[in-house]
Amino acid sequence: LAKALEKVTFTMGEMEGVPLPQDTCDAWETIHNFQAREDDIIIATYPKAGTTWAQEILDLIMLEGDTLKACRAPCFIKIPFIDLVPIKPMKSGVELANKMESPRLLKTHFPIQLVPPSFWEKNVKVVYVARNAKDCMVSYYYFQKMNKGLPDPGTWDEYFSTFMSGKAPWGSWFDHVIGWWNAREKHQILYTFYEDLIEDLEREIRRMAKFLGKDLSEEAIEKIKQHTSFQAMKDNPMTNFTVLPKAVFDQSVTPFMRKGKVGDWKNHFLVSQNEVFDATYKKRMEGVDLTFRDLL
Ligand code: A3P
Repeated sequence: LAKALEKVTFTMGEMEGVPLPQDTCDAWETIHNFQAREDDIIIATYPKAGTTWAQEILDLIMLEGDTLKACRAPCFIKIPFIDLVPIKPMKSGVELANKMESPRLLKTHFPIQLVPPSFWEKNVKVVYVARNAKDCMVSYYYFQKMNKGLPDPGTWDEYFSTFMSGKAPWGSWFDHVIGWWNAREKHQILYTFYEDLIEDLEREIRRMAKFLGKDLSEEAIEKIKQHTSFQAMKDNPMTNFTVLPKAVFDQSVTPFMRKGKVGDWKNHFLVSQNEVFDATYKKRMEGVDLTFRDLL
């Protein structure tokens, strides 16, 4: 795999104006025609919103707290990322999903308008995780530095412009969080927030379990809580991505499980950037009954 990666030149493409890896665009027909099943559970997020965290929680809810089984495979194998077409010999998300037994947990970063239509034909349940844009941007900046499958983010200042203009991979944070928010009325979507998970993990585990129709014992909830703490996931090779070679994720640049905090943006945003962000946020969120915390 490392050898194959040396030869790869990475390019971005675009689908309906949304920047996506070129390999994803090339496989669009296969991804678009992906066949969901009625009992699929989808984890949908803008990148860096806490996807991996939600994946581990939801897997453990389905397993009723069986932490041993939760370690059966790395998170990106046990929960296929349907948007992704990695280089061979790694299997695409669609290939992995097609081979899986039900009930399946699946991951996507697609904005609502790009998800495969069969999601809605099959009325799947979706757990959406949103994270305040400022922390998302900081986390994504570091992620693009270490993930060799994504463009280098350049300087922080350059990245700020890229993110704000919706040019980061998977597009505009604003379009993403608003699009999925507005879809709640039509589809089975549980809309959750990273900041709420940080505030009260147990409450959010119960909320997710209820949404999935799972009645968990107190013991199971306690086990899930412990297994999905930041430190536990940072130490767990099945969730911390250390099984991927340096040619894919170079964790010497920054670890995947980086800080796991709310408000790290305060260590990165310049006063001028903060003003630009706040003005844009006000404009973009006008008339939308969706509020984010921890932006001040
Ligand atoms: P930071 O870079 O701010 O640390 P995703 O899985 O969507 O790529 O999101 C990754 C972000 O979620 C990273 O944020 C990571 O540290 C954080 N994260 C992952 N697991 C977590 C956990 N158990 N508790 C808190 N944050 C977690």
